[in-house]
Amino acid sequence: MSYSTLAPPLSFKESEKLFSRALEIVSGGTTQGKAPNTLIPGEYPIYAARGKGAYLWDVDGNKFLDWILAYGIIVLGYCDPDVDAAAMREIRDGFSFPLTSPVQNELAELLVKTIPCAQMVHFFKTGSDTTTAAVRISRIATGRNKVVRWGYNGWHDWCCLREPGIPRYIRDDVLTFRYNDLNSVEDVFKKNQDQIACVIMMPLEIEEPKPGFLEGVKNLAHQNGALFILDEMRSGFHLAMGGAQEYYNVTPDLATFSKAMSNGYAVSALAGKKDLLEQLSKTYVSSTFFTNSIEMAAAVATIKKLRDTKTIPHLWKIGQGLKEGLDRLAGDHGIEARTIGVAPMPFMVFTYSDPEVMDAAKYVFYRETTRRGLLLHPSHHWFVCASHTEKDLARTLEICESGFRAVKEELARGFRAPTVQKVAVTASAGR
Ligand SMILES: Cc1ncc(COP(=O)(O)O)c(C=O)c1O
Repeated sequence: MSYSTLAPPLSFKESEKLFSRALEIVSGGTTQGKAPNTLIPGEYPIYAARGKGAYLWDVDGNKFLDWILAYGIIVLGYCDPDVDAAAMREIRDGFSFPLTSPVQNELAELLVKTIPCAQMVHFFKTGSDTTTAAVRISRIATGRNKVVRWGYNGWHDWCCLREPGIPRYIRDDVLTFRYNDLNSVEDVFKKNQDQIACVIMMPLEIEEPKPGFLEGVKNLAHQNGALFILDEMRSGFHLAMGGAQEYYNVTPDLATFSKAMSNGYAVSALAGKKDLLEQLSKTYVSSTFFTNSIEMAAAVATIKKLRDTKTIPHLWKIGQGLKEGLDRLAGDHGIEARTIGVAPMPFMVFTYSDPEVMDAAKYVFYRETTRRGLLLHPSHHWFVCASHTEKDLARTLEICESGFRAVKEELARGFRAPTVQKVAVTASAGR
């Protein structure tokens, strides 16, 4: 089935009612990274009621085939029965003790076997906990303060994307470079000789690393006495079981993981060389919830299921089908758009040279695809999960074709995105 006309708007009455109340009692109404105004206001649901597999239902009863998947946390699908059963066993037996649960060791054993750099691990709850611990270790191990970082590494002071509230002296110690440009990495080291503790970076975001780039950054870090740390929060358990470090064959000193590791449960891991992980004993890292076992049991079940069901090749296959299908359809309909990124975390960019036309195309495409039941993020790469089927892929492409038709129709009549609703384009700095 294909659509020749524009789709009617969905009703988000209940979502909007809840959100306007939230604005009175929750700062910003919701977590910043999940704020609905980062998408297209009025066109995306705000409150979820439930999810199953690759599908999500909002509080207004709208059903969506989801390619955002809680920003990559959901790798098996919503409410995976095996992961949830593992979590339920912990709930039944108690999961928060003044003691450590044996499942910690089970998870550590799995990670040490699975992740190339992992001689030892340590567990936290969030990604930001873990990237901060990695940076702390690098400062202890090198006796230096400066950090070179790239991509989104969390919200803590050293890597916060916005300046207000962050002391100048902290910002001054954090440097960056241009992705895929080794000269710019070399430059930072030249200008800050013997001062840099580590390079911490996402192995990739939307653009893929050029051959030799990651290895080159690692070599430059080591030649200059700094640690090389990969932030694998997104790439981990998506590109390969051992993360981007396995896929691109570059082993870092330390690496950080969470998201897909536990299919939605809050646990993160710092993995790396034993002598570096042991530096943690020189500092203090702790949280009330660090030893809670529900999330660790969920991570064990997730990793085993990913391994035993060979999910990762499925993510590549579906993602590749999505990329090829979108590129073909964009060409067929004369739409200036192309897909980029690795197949398990694909994205599509519109390439119109006129920014107004590009904004209009994005606005219409995402409005139309959402109205027809897809959840695709306009400014953050998408994610594939184990529950996406070939049928889901075909349906997604059919809806995207309708989206392209709508773009053509709206551009032909001179449509422009409403100024306040223009869709932000983000690249390397997270969402
Ligand atoms: C690559 C990367 N690093 C770090 C983080 C921060 O993790 P958290 O939001 O759990 O603190 C994120 C979160 O999106 C991330 O994508």
